[in-house]
Amino acid sequence: MSQRFHALEQLNQLHDGYLKAFTIDGVDLVLVQQAGQPSVLEGICPHAGHPFANSRVRGSNIRCDMHGYLFDLTSGACTYYTEGPCRALRVYAWEQQDGMIGIRL
Ligand code: FES
Repeated sequence: MSQRFHALEQLNQLHDGYLKAFTIDGVDLVLVQQAGQPSVLEGICPHAGHPFANSRVRGSNIRCDMHGYLFDLTSGACTYYTEGPCRALRVYAWEQQDGMIGIRL
């Protein structure tokens, strides 16, 4: 299956604390930046299926706004939980193209 570049955002729009959700070909994603480093992660929290659209970046993690679980922006690992451990988020490789950041799906 061939993969196509999907632009998500202009690189010059990214800033620390940036967080925006996207759905590309039916795949929910969230683009975040912290410490100058973008990350593209699975866009739905694996704990109970809540979208990350209104979540926040906290330190080196994304904090789900439903129950407060934290997931590492680099590895996707769940680093804080309350109701029981949770699997890691899928982390997507991102690319730059013509001033845009995006992924291949
Ligand atoms: S749904 Fe995200 S922490 Fe529970």
